[in-house]
Amino acid sequence: MINFWSYQAEYKKNRNKINRLIDQTLKRGQIFFGQNLHDFENNFAKKYNSKYAIGVSTGTDALLISLMSLNIKKGDEIITAANTAIPTISAIVNSGAKPVITDVSHDYLIDVNKIEKQITNKTKAIIPVHLYGKPCDMDKIISISKKYRINIIEDCAQAQGAKYKNRFVGTFGNLGCFSFYPTKILGGYSDGGLILTNNFNLYSKIKAIRFYGIDTVNKKNRFYNKYYSNLNGVNSRLDEINSKILDFKLKKIDSFINKRRSIAKIYNKELKNTSLILPSLEKEKFDVFHLYTVYHKKRDLIIKKLSKEKIQTRIIYPYPIHKMKGYSKYFANGKFKISEIKSKGIFSLPLYPELKVKDVKTICKKLKKILFSLDPKA
Ligand SMILES: Cc1ncc(COP(=O)(O)O)c(C=O)c1O
Repeated sequence: MINFWSYQAEYKKNRNKINRLIDQTLKRGQIFFGQNLHDFENNFAKKYNSKYAIGVSTGTDALLISLMSLNIKKGDEIITAANTAIPTISAIVNSGAKPVITDVSHDYLIDVNKIEKQITNKTKAIIPVHLYGKPCDMDKIISISKKYRINIIEDCAQAQGAKYKNRFVGTFGNLGCFSFYPTKILGGYSDGGLILTNNFNLYSKIKAIRFYGIDTVNKKNRFYNKYYSNLNGVNSRLDEINSKILDFKLKKIDSFINKRRSIAKIYNKELKNTSLILPSLEKEKFDVFHLYTVYHKKRDLIIKKLSKEKIQTRIIYPYPIHKMKGYSKYFANGKFKISEIKSKGIFSLPLYPELKVKDVKTICKKLKKILFSLDPKA
């Protein structure tokens, strides 16, 4: 079986080191808010050219807490992409605001030419989602945010290390949100998330919100770090064990990304003259290939045949947001044509740093054979 994803090979390679890191952490006697989190946050901020990084429990919390820090509330509207992951939308709804979705372009990213039509006097923020590892058109999004004076919260859950015009995602907006869910570019050994910002006020507010509203930044506050809440918060901790493992893996992140990009290069080369629509490539976008997502009208048949060949694939995501019962009420009669069409034909091929080149070649060979059997002329 060629797995869609697995952490086993990576763990096997680093087992002694990881077990040592866990042991060191537990011996130290602190489970939360210790040196490991502090080091990881500092190293992450430095790596991605940001002033501040705040670790939280999940990527979903990173989005929710970001919205809370900008005082987003009932009656406000937040714009994002129709094909995003459910958590982008659940964070908006849980902040009290109304999600507003925009259709995507053929590259699966928010169609920047359709955003302005969605803006009203209630719009408070845009959440561009750098889906599959590819950055959105940030120049256009920034110019819209300046024109209408609205905030940008970047959803970088799938795109850590991606660059637009040589600048890292997560550093364009007021806030950048990351996920360390195990399959992600920087995958933890549990859940995890983080927020980047250059704004001190947002930083200190976010640190309070993640810890029930307790101020742990402003030492002059007479309630500094006391059991005293300054504002409504949540409980969202990135623990010491996961912080240590993430910090260890952060040092290797460039090699993980290089491996992902070299696997994508093989797929691009091997599959270029087939009937599949491959990921688009643009010079100004440094794609980290969290996913290698292709499109074909006969998707369901292809993945069935691949599965018979013991090759796992995934559909990320099979339903656009407005087509799901949990959220359709926010988008009555909404039509988001490209997102709908794409959701019926997309599927992702295995791609993770430890995937063997020999397996990538096997996938290409079997996939080409299946495509040829479906349409010998293509
Ligand atoms: C685009 C996007 N946003 C947000 C999230 C939420 O991250 P987490 O699973 O860490 O809460 C995910 C995770 O799947 C995601 O893919």
